[in-house]
Amino acid sequence: MKITKTTNSRLKTTDFASLPFGRVFSDHMLVCNYKEDNWQEAEILPYGPIAMNPGTQVFHYGQAVFEGMKAFKNDKGEVLVFRKDENFKRLNKSAVRLSIPEIPEDVFMNGLDELLALDSDWCKEEEGYSLYIRPFIFASAECVKASASTEYTFIIITCPTTKYYGSSINVVIEEHFTRATKGGVGFAKAAGNYAASFYPTKQANANGFQQVIWTDSIEHKYIEESGTMNIWFRIGDKLITPELSDSILGGITRDSVVTLAKDSGIQVEQRRVSVSEVVEAYKSGELKEVFGTGTAVTVIPIDSITFRDNKMSISTIENSYAMLLKQKLQGIQKGKIEDIYGWTVKAPSKTPVS
Ligand code: COI
Repeated sequence: MKITKTTNSRLKTTDFASLPFGRVFSDHMLVCNYKEDNWQEAEILPYGPIAMNPGTQVFHYGQAVFEGMKAFKNDKGEVLVFRKDENFKRLNKSAVRLSIPEIPEDVFMNGLDELLALDSDWCKEEEGYSLYIRPFIFASAECVKASASTEYTFIIITCPTTKYYGSSINVVIEEHFTRATKGGVGFAKAAGNYAASFYPTKQANANGFQQVIWTDSIEHKYIEESGTMNIWFRIGDKLITPELSDSILGGITRDSVVTLAKDSGIQVEQRRVSVSEVVEAYKSGELKEVFGTGTAVTVIPIDSITFRDNKMSISTIENSYAMLLKQKLQGIQKGKIEDIYGWTVKAPSKTPVS
C-alpha cells in the first residue's frame, strides 16, 4: 500500500477540549478506487480535497453507502476497535442493495489498520473520547445516465469525538413522513436514507425536539427507529425493541445491547411495538425507560416522547437499564471490563512509515 504522510499535521493545533461531532478530521485518509471491474490498490494520503468532475454519478443519483464505527484508547495506550467485522459485513450488505461492488476484506481491514496506526494519536485516552471511523463508498464514474456507475471510490476518514448529543433527548412521533418502506433501502446504510430524514427532522427541531420517532410507512402505527438510532422501551421490567426488518437498520450497538441485556438477566423482546402500546404503558405507569442506541450516541436516555399534542415525560429511575447497559458497553469498548465476546480488536501500533 502506498502511504504518503502529511508534512503538516493538525494534531498540535486541534482543540481537543472542544470537538463538535464530525467536524474535526484526523491527518490521513484511505482511498481505494474501483475501475475495470476491480478494486485497485489502496493508498493512504493526507486528509484533503478529492478532485471530482460535476458529472460524477454520485451527485446525480446518490449511489452511496457508509458506515459508522468507533475506536477507543485503553489505559495502556492501545487502540481498540469495536466490532469492525460487523461494520465490514454491513457495509457490503448495503453496497449490494445499492448495486455497488463489495469491498474485499483485505482492502477494508488492512487499510483500517494502517490508517489507525498512522493516526492513533488522534484517538485520546481520556474518558469520554473516541475516534469515530467513517468508511464510505460512492459512485465515481463521470456519467449522468441513470444507471449504476462503472467506477467507485472507497474512502475511510476518522474524527476524534466526544458526545453526539447532550445527556438526554426529547423526541416526537412522526405520523406523516416515512424513513423507510418495505422493499426499500431502510436496512442499508444508504446516504439517501439520511438525506430524506433531514426535512422532517428540521421541523421537529424547530418544535424543540432533537429527533423524531419513525413509524411504519403503511399505517404509522408501529415504531421503527428514532432519528439515526434504534429505540428501546422498558415496560415493566421487560426491555422491548422493534424487531429487525428491511425497513430498520440492524444497529451493531443494538445487537451488542441485546446480548449485554440478556447476559445481565434482563428479559429482552424483539418484536413489533405499536404507538398505542407505548401510550397505554405510559398511562398505566409501566413505561419506565426509553432510550436510543447507535454508534455515535452509544446509549442515550430519551426524556420525553410527544405523540400528537401529548407529551409523555419519563422520569429518571434508579437501577436504570440504559445506564447499566451503557456502562457495560463503554467498559468493554474502553478495555476496562473483560471482553468475553471478542468484540474489541487491538489495532496494530504505530509502524515507522516513510
Ligand atoms: C451512527 O451512529 O454511526 C450513525 O449512523 C449516526 C451518524 C449518521 C452520525
